[in-house]
Amino acid sequence: MLLNRRIVVGICGGIASYKAVDLVSKLQQTGALVDVILTKHAEDFVRPLTFAAVSHRPAYTDLWEASGQAAEMHIVLAEEAEVLAIVPATANTLAKLAHGIADNMLTAVALATQAPLVLAPAMYRDMYTHPATRANLALLRERGAHIVEPEVGRLASGAIGPGRLPETAVLLGAISQALGRNGDLAGRKVVVTAGGTREPIDPVRYVGNRSSGKMGFALATEARDRGAQVVLISGPVALDAPYGVELHAVETALEMRDAVRGATLDADVLIMSAAVADFRPAAPAAHKLKKEGRAEQGIAFDAQGGFTLHLVRNPDILGELAAAEDSGKSLGDEGKRQKRLVRVGFAAETSDLVSYAQGKLAAKRLDLLVGNDVSRSDSGFGAETNKVLIFHAAGGMEDLPLMPKQDVAAAIWDRIVPLLR
Ligand code: C5P
Repeated sequence: MLLNRRIVVGICGGIASYKAVDLVSKLQQTGALVDVILTKHAEDFVRPLTFAAVSHRPAYTDLWEASGQAAEMHIVLAEEAEVLAIVPATANTLAKLAHGIADNMLTAVALATQAPLVLAPAMYRDMYTHPATRANLALLRERGAHIVEPEVGRLASGAIGPGRLPETAVLLGAISQALGRNGDLAGRKVVVTAGGTREPIDPVRYVGNRSSGKMGFALATEARDRGAQVVLISGPVALDAPYGVELHAVETALEMRDAVRGATLDADVLIMSAAVADFRPAAPAAHKLKKEGRAEQGIAFDAQGGFTLHLVRNPDILGELAAAEDSGKSLGDEGKRQKRLVRVGFAAETSDLVSYAQGKLAAKRLDLLVGNDVSRSDSGFGAETNKVLIFHAAGGMEDLPLMPKQDVAAAIWDRIVPLLR
């Protein structure tokens, strides 16, 4: 996504400017072509050489240097930039941007460029909450700037409040989203489910599965970076919410069903990559079950002190959507669906993948089904890579090579986009 993209990173004179070194380094590592411009006061915190060393390109500072090269460069950078990210953006520079002042190389490029502007304000709490800064940010947002909200926490001064520069991953997410705003999913709403569900046995125990959520999170970030509005409905996972994605956290299959129903009413695509439990304990105990063998809430202990857990079927979320389409209704809110919903399912299998997958594609009336063999250690649950087969409703099966999950996500969206036309 970032390979060979022209990104200009502006650095202002705030203490958080040292964190921008990491951002520039990560951008360079992903293959982006990063030009850095420092304001005069940024140079007091971090030397231009530091940025040049991590970006592998010159870092710019003084617009007025005698050779005139910088003056020429500010037009070149403004024209060639695909995104201008100002990290950190100080109250002073925000004020200049809001008023069209171009008194240094960074603000001159900002005024001259047509590229989207990503602003990551970071400053002392009371400067951030000052009405002047609030008004400047509101004006910049209204003009289309992407504002990455600062985090609330401990500031360099020791004060607690808003003003902390977010983590590099968040900044990378904001830059990727800005770059992809006119991508092939622009104007589309997509819903992705991820992770596994937890079906309670009692308040502390559950029936679960090994899904890590990585595939679903990769599908959600890929859609974001192609311009989509993304709703990610996830079971409990150990992953950070991707920037720019609306995350709905759920636990059980029934909660996931409600969230999917609500979110898909006006959506274009649903990808069910979640491992939804097919069964749930019939009657979860209200209190923690004790091993002493006391019969409690319908659970009868046998002579050896064990017991049988009675499971009932969960609704099939994709199956219900197919059935609702057949009857010409949308679930829950009958008749409200405006558009056709492209439906994509996953089949995680440990044997007979092809025949099970083909059966599911037909039974759940899907547009695409992604089959993955979860018996391999380099594929499926928890792995960083995935080996999948893609089955098409129109017929045909593709056998994709083992790839990082982010690349698998791109391949899946490549096959969904033509179905939207
Ligand atoms: O039939 P099976 O559960 O193996 O099908 C897997 C696919 O169906 C996945 O896309 C999964 O997210 C979805 N599913 C569902 N509702 C369930 C179980 C699975 O939509 N109750």
